[in-house]
Amino acid sequence: MTRSKAALLSLLLAIALPACSKSSDVLPTEAETEESVAGSAPVEDVLSAEQAELIGRGEAIAETACAGCHAVGAADESPHPDAPPLRLLSQTVDLDTLEARFAQGSVSDHPDMPDWQFEQIDAAGLIAYLKSVQSGSAN
Ligand code: HEC
Repeated sequence: MTRSKAALLSLLLAIALPACSKSSDVLPTEAETEESVAGSAPVEDVLSAEQAELIGRGEAIAETACAGCHAVGAADESPHPDAPPLRLLSQTVDLDTLEARFAQGSVSDHPDMPDWQFEQIDAAGLIAYLKSVQSGSAN
């Protein structure tokens, strides 16, 4: 009886001890956790700040370069009767390929629509802005 109790006890220890040391290996120490958090800002914050910067740049371009013909706001009318409001562009144009077309300066064949050549970042900003103002479509 004492013999089987001792055997049972050592069996339990054999199971329990490795399990304990293993769990303390897996859990990070407090110092490690703080280090990785303090290293940089959360990824989402960095991305949204970049996105906001892009959109702001695109909005400035739209207001100076497009607003003479296209409506740029949420409810205004286009000054040029043939120019669609920018908020409706995604109904007729694929905004993802539009960025490349802006970079190449081939957006519309209409004689009144100027050919633009934006620096890559400005085209990206303009597209980000256009996407942010779309209404009535998946974009
Ligand atoms: C001088 C007037 C004018 C300016 C400035 C102008 N556009 Fe246009 N845009 C037009 C006209 C007119 C059309 C032709 C609409 C059509 O094809 O029926 C057009 C067409 C477009 C189209 C194609 C729409 C489609 O459905 O195919 C896009 C995209 C576009 N413009 C974006 C812009 C952007 C972005 C800017 C500013 C960077 C801009 N335009 C500046 C007059 C202008």
